[in-house]
Amino acid sequence: MKNLKAMMFNRKASDPKNKPDQILEALSLQPGQNIADIGAGGGYFSLRFANAIGRAGKVYAIDTDPEFLDFISNSAKEKGLNNVETILAMEDNLTLPEKSLDLVFVRNVYHHLPNRVGYFRNLIGLLKPEGKIVVIEYKRGGPFSFRRIFGHYVPLEKIIEGMDKAGYNVSKRFDFLPQQSFTIFIQRK
Ligand SMILES: C[S@@+](CC[C@H](N)C(=O)[O-])C[C@H]1O[C@@H](n2cnc3c(N)ncnc32)[C@H](O)[C@@H]1O
Repeated sequence: MKNLKAMMFNRKASDPKNKPDQILEALSLQPGQNIADIGAGGGYFSLRFANAIGRAGKVYAIDTDPEFLDFISNSAKEKGLNNVETILAMEDNLTLPEKSLDLVFVRNVYHHLPNRVGYFRNLIGLLKPEGKIVVIEYKRGGPFSFRRIFGHYVPLEKIIEGMDKAGYNVSKRFDFLPQQSFTIFIQRK
């Protein structure tokens, strides 16, 4: 089934200038891990994660758009990946098994979430104690950039402030992405 928007998301996600291989490397995924890809779009990263974590692991590809989820299910089937489960999410809430997640991946989605502090506070219950939240989010961009004009970005200091209120500390930051900030958060003990 064709979904032009999902295909466009995947084209952008896989473009070498957006450094998908370096992102994967930075995440140091391990076989058997459970990962939630929130706002999975066309599923480019969901499928890369599914390959990296193997049969013993699981990727939850999560989105509010059922057509993107159908596209991801079909792509996973075509590639013989049976460790991808699609989940239709509410805009402001997510239900998954408690304490099950090693990693939550949120790429180019943070600016879409309505109540970020509440949303990420709720996720603490779903993370394993050492679980991580990865936020890759657009930086402001130039005065005529799409993301600046349409507000499709959140400055890093705002992300850190919101995540702090939700109960997380910065664990690592990477500066190799040209258009986005890339931060890994862990829950405060
Ligand atoms: C810009 S796309 C990013 C897709 C993908 N993460 C990537 O990096 O290619 C944003 C995605 O977030 C989804 N989305 C928007 N609001 C959401 C929400 N509250 N919960 C889950 N997904 C959401 C959209 O449907 C869309 O698929």
